[in-house]
Amino acid sequence: MYKTIEKSKQLLKSCGPDVALSSLYSLLKKTSDSNEKERIYIYIAKIYVSQKKYIEAIEAIGYFFDDSKIAVFLDNIDKYINENNKDRVKNILLNNFEILKKKTVLKSKPSSMLAVLTNKCNLRCIMCKSIRENYTISDETLDDIIKNMKYFEYLACLGGEVFLYDKFNVIVENAKKFDTELSISTNGLLLGKNMSMFENMQASIGVSVDGFDKETYEKIRMKGNFDVLNENLEILKQSTQKESFKQIKTLLRMVIMKNNYKQVMKAFDFALKYNFKALNFLRLNSAFEYSPNAKELKYAIDQIRQCMDIVEKEKYNIQIFTDTNDLNLNAGQKNQKTLYNNASTGSNELYVKCNIPWKNLSISMKNDVYFDCRCDCKHIEKFETIEKSWNSLAIQKIRKAIIYGNYVKICKDCSVLY
Ligand SMILES: C[S@@+](CC[C@H](N)C(=O)[O-])C[C@H]1O[C@@H](n2cnc3c(N)ncnc32)[C@H](O)[C@@H]1O
Ligand code: SF4
Ligand code: SF4
Repeated sequence: MYKTIEKSKQLLKSCGPDVALSSLYSLLKKTSDSNEKERIYIYIAKIYVSQKKYIEAIEAIGYFFDDSKIAVFLDNIDKYINENNKDRVKNILLNNFEILKKKTVLKSKPSSMLAVLTNKCNLRCIMCKSIRENYTISDETLDDIIKNMKYFEYLACLGGEVFLYDKFNVIVENAKKFDTELSISTNGLLLGKNMSMFENMQASIGVSVDGFDKETYEKIRMKGNFDVLNENLEILKQSTQKESFKQIKTLLRMVIMKNNYKQVMKAFDFALKYNFKALNFLRLNSAFEYSPNAKELKYAIDQIRQCMDIVEKEKYNIQIFTDTNDLNLNAGQKNQKTLYNNASTGSNELYVKCNIPWKNLSISMKNDVYFDCRCDCKHIEKFETIEKSWNSLAIQKIRKAIIYGNYVKICKDCSVLY
């Protein structure tokens, strides 16, 4: 048996992982001894880890592992991890294990987070309610986020304007250090002078525009200046063409309102002009006095469909999407994302119907906890610390509800579950 594992190690070196794995799987078929099978599965899992296939790794060992065996496995896995941030990989593995075991109190940490940093803003957009109250994230919560950064695959920062939060650079530096993908939404007017901080890191920059000529823009995005916006977007475009910004994804956002519903095609041209990689149409979620009526909405939707057809026909390198359940446009759109999140709207049928409560923790402007998912920011409870909130009774209850199918209010009508 040791010989055969040794042989697989040689095969791994000489012929690569696929050959080594197929030799190990055929060895499994010939083996009836359970200890021997376990050793083979552990080696299979290690090979999957080296290939960054973390779900497959846990599938190989998860069913017969208990808490102490996974702890030993994680202690001995470093040399198989082919990523710089080994803590995060171990957290992903532990998290997959805990989902597989349907645990509701987790030792693994959240792998994605969304946090509102401030609601200070240089604009006064007519439809925006975010800037009504004064809010800045506390220094304790900032420290907590930084402490957990090594576990995050993804961190979304919201405002107001994130560039007006005086410690935003601390977040960026730490995201860079731990290879965490940082996502922001911005009005773009301060981008030019802040662009350099996104060099050599993974980031997704969403720019909200809403009006695609000077008059419409400045009527909606009050205090904004369309010419200054264009100057900033030119810098964004030039920067992202450089090698040091190759990991930056850009996204253009438009909220459909009665004031701009005719500008969908203009938004599309604008997105192409500035090389945006995605164009996101959003529905209004407050300030309903600006809601388009049924006819106006239909007009906008027809235009969005036309844009999608053009992208397909001309093979443009841009993704067009609307938010989940928004604008009734989702049928057939595969690459749905929530508003700011590129974490999964996560189902993994094998484990649980929705894995978001096992992966994400978000903090709103009022310091409430919610999930960055389809629940439309329904608040769960007050935020305490990442550690306490992550395993709070309220979140445990949501996890239990997903496991047993007696869904709690926030998830009840969610399409992920049906
Ligand atoms: C509140 S802003 C904060 C980030 C940044 N200041 C910006 O404008 O992108 C986040 C997003 O919410 C959108 N938004 C503002 N008011 C909205 C509303 N009433 N309904 C839907 N989305 C809205 C903005 O257009 C923007 O895309
Ligand atoms: S720029 Fe963003 S946060 Fe500021 S008022 Fe406009 S939508 Fe709101
Ligand atoms: S509402 Fe519930 S089920 Fe739906 S995505 Fe959010 S956490 Fe998952």
